Amino acid sequence: MRLLLGIGGGIAAYKAVELARRATQRGFEVRCVLTDAARQFVSATSLQAVCRYPVRDSLWDQAAEAAMGHIELARWAEHVLIAPATANLVARLAHGFANDLLTTLVLASPAPLTLAPAMNQAMWRHPATQQNLAVLRSRNVRIIGPDVGDQACGDVGPGRMVDVDDLIASLSPNGPLTGQRWVVSAGPTFEDIDPVRFVGNRSSGKMGFAIASAAAAMGAGVTLVCGPVTLQTPNGISRIDVRSATQMLDAVLSACKGAHVYVGAAAVADYRPSSVADQKLKKSADVLELRLIKNPDILATVAALPDRPFVVGFAAETRELLEYARRKREAKGADVILANDVSEPVFDHDESALVAIAAQEEQLFPRQSKIDLARSVIQWLMPRIAGSSA
Ligand code: C5P
Repeated sequence: MRLLLGIGGGIAAYKAVELARRATQRGFEVRCVLTDAARQFVSATSLQAVCRYPVRDSLWDQAAEAAMGHIELARWAEHVLIAPATANLVARLAHGFANDLLTTLVLASPAPLTLAPAMNQAMWRHPATQQNLAVLRSRNVRIIGPDVGDQACGDVGPGRMVDVDDLIASLSPNGPLTGQRWVVSAGPTFEDIDPVRFVGNRSSGKMGFAIASAAAAMGAGVTLVCGPVTLQTPNGISRIDVRSATQMLDAVLSACKGAHVYVGAAAVADYRPSSVADQKLKKSADVLELRLIKNPDILATVAALPDRPFVVGFAAETRELLEYARRKREAKGADVILANDVSEPVFDHDESALVAIAAQEEQLFPRQSKIDLARSVIQWLMPRIAGSSA
């Protein structure tokens, strides 16, 4: 594959030489483009030595333009990967800037675009960055990572560029779901009562993470929208963290644009406090009444979209599992409901059993590890997704 590797100016740029080297070893033909800021972190000489092609860093280099003009280079690329993608690059790409060679190439290239963001965790979490990413996702740009962990600046959190090998693997997925975009929601939602208290539930997010991980391993581009969980992001997945059901609804709706499949594995709170106190509530009355109002039903909202993905929901019940689950499928307009019996130990466990309920058929998946269960369920879903109009 002809890979155009764009390198942004963040500390993770030092990994770009290794990335270019490994991609070349795996048979990619790699042409590197550095932004101005990237030149502060990595040298064109090193990159050129590992990928054996001249490195470009300016629109105004007459010799380079004469050898291969920038529009020609944009057309040449079969895939564009930007690693690291800094907050600044993400913002410029979201707004269609063409004020340097790399952003110009992206605008001019019809090739699929993958970004591996890397930045300080606060910059990653900033609403401006998250909104820019949402815009890019809605244009089918793949966002891989970032990983969570120690940062060069001393912070800990999301913002590390994903592992170089995982990045390369994500460029050549040849599984049965290649070309499909999946959105998976996972974990609980927390509904705030005041600045320190909330209403939540016991979902760990493990089942949703297993589905996201199995779908990505089968080649799907996966966006994982998750409530507060303590799980590591599986490799090759784009993760959006939210807290409440209303935030989850917004994130899911924006991620679902152009998606093929939505799997609602989150335990979305059915109700939220009617108002959130600005200050911590004081202990005075013997009885405190909380007024709760209904949350939007995310699954039903996605299922009612005019241009909707294939919709898979979960039903966790402690009794009359199948009856409730069948009714839930119809009421919410889902294609499939995966029913699990939560009178058995399921929450925060690594194992579970499920019954898949579709319009005309039902299938039992016996108790097994959540990752095996996710793989078997996806295998079972595949022909049904292919046969649907979604
Ligand atoms: O209605 P119930 O919560 O039992 O339905 C479970 C399914 O519906 C799950 O797939 C869950 O993610 C989804 N759901 C939702 N929005 C809600 C409540 C549940 O998407 N407000």
